[in-house]
Amino acid sequence: MNKQLNGTVALVTGASSGIGEATAAELAGCGASVALIARRRDRLEALAARIKNEGGRAHVIEADISREDQARNAVEQTVSELGRLDTLINNAGVMLLGDIVGAPVEEWQLMVEVNIMGLMYCAHAALPHLLRAAASGPRRVADMVNISSVAGRTVRRGAGVYNATKHAVGAFSEALRQEVARAHVRVSLVEPGAVDTELASHNRPEVLAQLRSRIGEIERMKSEDIARAIAYLVSQPRHVAINEMLVRPTEQEL
Ligand SMILES: NC(=O)c1ccc[n+]([C@@H]2O[C@H](COP(=O)([O-])OP(=O)(O)OC[C@H]3O[C@@H](n4cnc5c(N)ncnc54)[C@H](OP(=O)(O)O)[C@@H]3O)[C@@H](O)[C@H]2O)c1
Repeated sequence: MNKQLNGTVALVTGASSGIGEATAAELAGCGASVALIARRRDRLEALAARIKNEGGRAHVIEADISREDQARNAVEQTVSELGRLDTLINNAGVMLLGDIVGAPVEEWQLMVEVNIMGLMYCAHAALPHLLRAAASGPRRVADMVNISSVAGRTVRRGAGVYNATKHAVGAFSEALRQEVARAHVRVSLVEPGAVDTELASHNRPEVLAQLRSRIGEIERMKSEDIARAIAYLVSQPRHVAINEMLVRPTEQEL
């Protein structure tokens, strides 16, 4: 396998399932040492064991990124255990859908806390390390990949607050991209369409039924499809930045 990321360190939030799990495995396969962040330690330990078994290096950090202290500590522990930080994959997220009228406000609070504040806490804590890696690391470039969604571009009834959080990720990413571009920190936005993961399973039963009828029986992507796209982004030569990547299943219309 291609070892373009040898000697680099990547932190992946939401590495206990779905896209984050697949991305951590993919980056480790490309030679990166990976810090695995999420709340379900058992799932992170299982992934770390798999990565180590395949000759890679992984470090498990149990953290709730919606808590600023835990997000910051996860970044600092990555640097103290693995030595540096070249790549932040801001992937952890929740998607709780349904109409706005009468919605349980706690669902909105959770999405804002994880999808926006959690991502921004991790970004804020990681930036000094990414800037250092870009200034003095062997590759002289560093990456922050923020996972948005098709929902960060296309607004639909029944997804209003999830749409709002992913649009916020897009706005934050673009402003930050402009801020750190000259310092060779690349900020990229990845916008997946439907991927077969646990994401939708946390919705209320009536919302799940609506979602099934809306997306229908199209063939969804696998987490590995997005993981390969992310590995492609962060493996570009220093002078190339892929700012935005929209990846849908072939059959997904909207
Ligand atoms: N699946 C799709 O169709 C799709 C499409 C577009 C975009 N996305 C985006 O892709 C990202 C990953 O989602 P996925 O589809 O892979 O779903 P998933 O399998 O449910 O994974 C979500 C991950 O986020 C972690 N997480 C949630 N809350 C957290 C918190 N407070 N602190 C730390 N980690 C937390 C979960 O780990 P723990 O529960 O162990 O903490 C889990 O590892 C999300 O940002 C999602 O919005 C997904």
